[in-house]
Amino acid sequence: MLEEPEPGVYKKGQFSRISSAGPTTLFAVKLDEQLRIKTGLGEFDRVLGGGIVPGSVVLVGGPPGIGKSTLLLQMSNQLASTGKKILYVSGEESINQIKLRAGRLGADSPNLYVLSETNVDSIIEHIKDLSPQSVIIDSIQVIYKPGLQSVPGSVSQVRETAGELTAFAKSSNIPVFLIGHVTKEGSIAGPRILEHMVDVVLYFEGEIYHDYRILRAIKSRFGSTNEIAMFEMQEKGLQEVASPSEVFLRKRTSEVIGSTIVPVLEGSRSILVELQALVSSTKFGLPSRRVTGLDYNRVILLLAVLKKMVGLRIGGCDIFVSVAGGIKIVEPAADLGICLSCASSFKEKPTRAQDTVLGEVGLRGEVRPVTRIARRVSEAQKLGFKRCIIPKGNFKGVDFNQKIEIIGVETVKQALEVMFS
Ligand code: TYD
Ligand code: MG
Repeated sequence: MLEEPEPGVYKKGQFSRISSAGPTTLFAVKLDEQLRIKTGLGEFDRVLGGGIVPGSVVLVGGPPGIGKSTLLLQMSNQLASTGKKILYVSGEESINQIKLRAGRLGADSPNLYVLSETNVDSIIEHIKDLSPQSVIIDSIQVIYKPGLQSVPGSVSQVRETAGELTAFAKSSNIPVFLIGHVTKEGSIAGPRILEHMVDVVLYFEGEIYHDYRILRAIKSRFGSTNEIAMFEMQEKGLQEVASPSEVFLRKRTSEVIGSTIVPVLEGSRSILVELQALVSSTKFGLPSRRVTGLDYNRVILLLAVLKKMVGLRIGGCDIFVSVAGGIKIVEPAADLGICLSCASSFKEKPTRAQDTVLGEVGLRGEVRPVTRIARRVSEAQKLGFKRCIIPKGNFKGVDFNQKIEIIGVETVKQALEVMFS
């Protein structure tokens, strides 16, 4: 087991120890937001809930090649360039390989330390010696605890090494970032088994073959979850994208068949995304259904509503539904958009380029109110959209004195009439 370090050994003046001597009243506890360390990457700070909390453990997961090492090396360099001592431990790459990557990224701060090591005991020894202000472990799957029978990457190794590093972070108040690979099949010892141990879980999403990467907060003890940050992979590493809506809508110019724009909520922000559908009659065999970026079962349910409650004869059609740009949408506020995209493709009638759509759809074909309507409508207006079709039940929450026309609907049928009239 890890020995409790002597109090004060790792103190950096501005940090206080997390554990307290005994019970205290909540009233007496003073919160100090100043304690958060800004990484200097604005988008990254936001998904962290406003910066790095001392002593916290952050898991950064994602498929191989998506940009985990790149992002954390960039962050390390940013932090180091403000005078903080940062230790980047790589168990996957040699010092020379890290140097090459750092060269591409322009990471050359004299305060950025690198270590190529996989033994957790000696990693902790090095951290104690160096006393850095942040540590990055790349990746947790290659780190091992000597004496354990199992191989690195196995459940017991990942659990044990992450457990020791977490305990160390808490006792020393040094924040630790753990990088973890997630494979498409969901590997046995993937980062999932660590989710409950760490304070913050961030996952990278996106297609390796596209340039955009989304970093999503899945769990956060210090901020809101589902907060996302968007990056673009460029020659010199990941660049922050301040206005994701503009990226998602970049190529939309005129009327399109089978497409609607929906203001979805991602954490504290609203982002406009394009929902695309392709509905075509099946030539032979069973009609197929393919869904990307949305919940499959939800889409199947909405297709049933379109068939039964709206009377669209889509039963014998192949149907493909997806979200443009590689983002994943889970909220029901996108329901009406999915219905209208499918209807547009089926009827071969274009939707208007200036329209946005919002609404949860119930089994009877009714359109139900969505959360935080004002924020969504204002994002649509900000990006120059002219109309927003919303649930009538949301009227209370909308400011009608805006440069955007608001149309309320109660059923999917009504929404179709508005859209295609
Ligand atoms: P990487 O950070 O190594 O991924 P992970 O650690 O998640 O496995 O990212 C690797 C990809 O990023 C690789 O395909 C090359 C690309 N890349 C760039 O396009 N520009 C860059 O500046 C860097 C460093 C990487
Ligand atoms: Mg890597």
